[in-house]
Amino acid sequence: SMLEAAHQNDIDLEVSVTFPANVMSGACEGSLACSTCHVIIMDVDYYKKLEEPTDEENDMLDLAFGLTETSRLGCQVI
Ligand code: FES
Repeated sequence: SMLEAAHQNDIDLEVSVTFPANVMSGACEGSLACSTCHVIIMDVDYYKKLEEPTDEENDMLDLAFGLTETSRLGCQVI
């Protein structure tokens, strides 16, 4: 997933300010129980190519800080 790739490359996906700075992004390790892996996909064409988010992902995204039209959870984007 995007989250795993980010971790492998030492990139912190966290964009939320609702969590303390010492909480790593991907707090639930991809089990759809947090929104710390929230990413905003800047390339709309790329966003459209992705699979639709599941209801579970959308529910979790609703809790993400700064939600946008092209927000996803990094752990769910393959
Ligand atoms: Fe928790 Fe993605 S790491 S939902």
